Amino acid sequence: MSYTLRRLRWRDIRTTYRLASDPDERREAKDHTMPTFWGHLKWMWRWVHWHELRAWVILEDGKPAGLVRAHGGGIWLPFSRHVMSIVLFPAYRGRGIASWAIGEAAEVLAGQTDRPIFAYIRKGNRASMGAFRKAGFRFMGRVIDGLSQFVYTED
Ligand SMILES: CC(C)(COP(=O)(O)OP(=O)(O)OC[C@H]1O[C@@H](n2cnc3c(N)ncnc32)[C@H](O)[C@@H]1OP(=O)(O)O)[C@@H](O)C(=O)NCCC(=O)NCCS
Repeated sequence: MSYTLRRLRWRDIRTTYRLASDPDERREAKDHTMPTFWGHLKWMWRWVHWHELRAWVILEDGKPAGLVRAHGGGIWLPFSRHVMSIVLFPAYRGRGIASWAIGEAAEVLAGQTDRPIFAYIRKGNRASMGAFRKAGFRFMGRVIDGLSQFVYTED
């Protein structure tokens, strides 16, 4: 099997809409409501065009397996932080793909900017914590609104 990351583009909209509609993804997201297609179009526009938002489709043998992305911490605080998140289609989970993709994306981001890279993970989300830990993130000892704060540290 070969794995690659490719920058998000418009033609990925079917993939991202399916990922955004995944019940596990909705449970872990800030907004739990299922996306409408129009709402998702707006979301997609931002993630494809805004400089502060970077997203990569995770490909297994050229087929979409998931999405890893990072936002720049809000346009009002340009010098703040990146916040990374990930979602895989259920069939691709539990095989180490998430930790690989997070590590790759974090390495690319760390090479482009000095801003710290954070992840905020719900306390019960063992799989996400495991994946981020394996990719080089460490728990900062802080829980904010039920979300554990992790930060990327390069070896
Ligand atoms: C979070 C998610 C991307 C993890 O994907 P995954 O493919 O299971 O992750 P990995 O296979 O890379 O697992 C990484 C590590 O997590 C640990 N892990 C996985 N599932 C676990 C579980 N249920 N309990 C405890 N640890 C677990 C393992 O230690 C694994 O390491 P290993 O390869 O040494 O066994 C996937 O479950 C998902 O898409 N969930 C829905 C969306 C979501 O929760 N996103 C996170 C928001 S930040």
